Amino acid sequence: MDTIQAIRERRAINFFEPGKSIPDSVLNELLELANLAPSSFDLQPWKVIAVRDPERKKTLRGCAMNQQKVEDAAAVLIMVADPDGVEENKDRVLESWQALGYMQPGAREAYSGMMDSLYGARDSITRKLFAAKNTALYAMTLMIAAKGMGFDTHPMDGFDEACVKKEFNIPENKVVIMLIAIGNLKKGTTLLPRPFRRELDEFVSYENYSRK
Ligand SMILES: Cc1cc2nc3c(=O)[nH]c(=O)nc-3n(C[C@H](O)[C@H](O)[C@H](O)COP(=O)(O)O)c2cc1C
Repeated sequence: MDTIQAIRERRAINFFEPGKSIPDSVLNELLELANLAPSSFDLQPWKVIAVRDPERKKTLRGCAMNQQKVEDAAAVLIMVADPDGVEENKDRVLESWQALGYMQPGAREAYSGMMDSLYGARDSITRKLFAAKNTALYAMTLMIAAKGMGFDTHPMDGFDEACVKKEFNIPENKVVIMLIAIGNLKKGTTLLPRPFRRELDEFVSYENYSRK
């Protein structure tokens, strides 16, 4: 499916065909495609927990306002924004830039300093926002890729973060930004038409925030 069609046809579907699994090779391909998403300084501050096992999905459902789709979907991805992505990946990013000729060796310290100062202290709001926005780009890329590969998805923020962290051993300083259910639309289900979208002139302005 071409990209424009995948964007047009992606919907947050509520009803997944239960009892269907997604082959690990397919899931892996999807995760790899999403891994091509852009990120700030290429720091890739995300972690993904793929929940496929029926018992684990049941546990996750218990943390997710009992949403049926968590159990029915073939897999549910717990999208974790990682504020430690700067420290974890900085050196590898800089090495890659140096090896590929993006950067002269002498510029390394300057870039390293820039990354540290732009994204603030490890426990700051700035750092959490950095991690969340990049993880959201991974998530969106994944949902479009899934549609292109013939799967449906459903993003969710209806969950208790403390519960998800406890049940899935996620360290306290990480941010669970959303769950994404993946699978196929339940046979015989007809989707309601796409809900309300605003007209562009309500939220797009040119050259300035205000349209006046
Ligand atoms: C970050 C995020 C969280 C969402 N959380 C939930 C959720 O917990 N439960 C739910 O039923 N829908 C959830 N949705 C789905 C939205 O309601 C849906 O995307 C929206 O109504 C537009 O429909 P469409 O995606 O089919 O165009 C969420 C969507 C996003 C992007």
